[in-house]
Amino acid sequence: MAAIVATVAYLGLEARAVEVQVQLIPGLPAFNVVGLADKAVGESRERVRGAIAGMGLSLPPKRIAVNLSPADLPKEGSHFDLPIALALLAAMGVVDAEALADYVIVGELGLDARITASPGVLLAALHASEVGKGLVCPAAQGSEAAWAGEIEVIAAPDLLSLLNHFKGHGLLSPPKPGIAEHADHGPDLRQVKGQETAKRALEIAAAGAHNLLMVGPPGSGKSLMASCLPGILPPLDPAEALEVSMVQSVAGTLTGGRLTRTRPFRAPHHSASMAALTGGGVHPALGFALMHCRLQWGSSNCTRAINHSMWES
Ligand SMILES: Nc1ncnc2c1ncn2[C@@H]1O[C@H](COP(=O)(O)OP(=O)(O)O)[C@@H](O)[C@H]1O
Ligand SMILES: [Mg+2]
Repeated sequence: MAAIVATVAYLGLEARAVEVQVQLIPGLPAFNVVGLADKAVGESRERVRGAIAGMGLSLPPKRIAVNLSPADLPKEGSHFDLPIALALLAAMGVVDAEALADYVIVGELGLDARITASPGVLLAALHASEVGKGLVCPAAQGSEAAWAGEIEVIAAPDLLSLLNHFKGHGLLSPPKPGIAEHADHGPDLRQVKGQETAKRALEIAAAGAHNLLMVGPPGSGKSLMASCLPGILPPLDPAEALEVSMVQSVAGTLTGGRLTRTRPFRAPHHSASMAALTGGGVHPALGFALMHCRLQWGSSNCTRAINHSMWES
């Protein structure tokens, strides 16, 4: 019987359901991960092996087959460590597989069995709330996950305390959503001396959500005035803040689990490549421009639920 645990793969701003299946097969001892895993996922074998050894357990002398399903969906990132480890522990009979069935599990493992932060936890939490499951995530990111509404979040500092939680000894307390940061916009439009026409154009662009093209000699204040724009745009509403935070969560820049209300401002260098601006690569990643254009203008079509109770307007 294969032990099965739910996790996610990130595709841009989307979290797709992935199933981790682990089976112990009689034969020469081996530990293989299949299912279109990238280097970081392949390396998780060593971290899982180390973490399980770190808890004083030894792997069974069998063929350990790990399959990440659907097998044709590319998987990247280190957050597969924890679901692989838990599915393996379930296959070994250390943890009850049924107890794990109600959770989406993400997290990176250290060799000492600590559960360390991995990008994208907010997306995983939103996915879990959509499919009606709870979330198991690193302790450091519990407050980020708690923003995803009314879902059960287990934020564990290490593998041992997580196993104790599932066994009923030493329950982990549910994390609280991080307090939303107060908007801290860059420079103030007041700092701009003169330039009345340009300032008027900025105000009109901000009011009507128009694009702006600035033309002028170097040093004439284009960059300064562009950076003043977030300050005259309205603060992010909860849906926009959630969307911005989702981008930051995937990019791994959402610190301390606090949702930000600051409108993102990006100033890519004029020599930045097309891929750097729009996002790209073999497995497409977010670029500068996506964060800039899509989000700065607040044209949010994000309809997901957010944990409103903590949001002070
Ligand atoms: N109208 C202005 N009021 C105040 N500071 C200005 C003004 N125009 C330019 N500066 C200052 O001059 C410097 C160069 O401006 P910058 O915005 O980088 O120019 P540009 O992007 O057009 O090359 C900045 O330190 C900016 O603060
Ligand atoms: Mg400039």
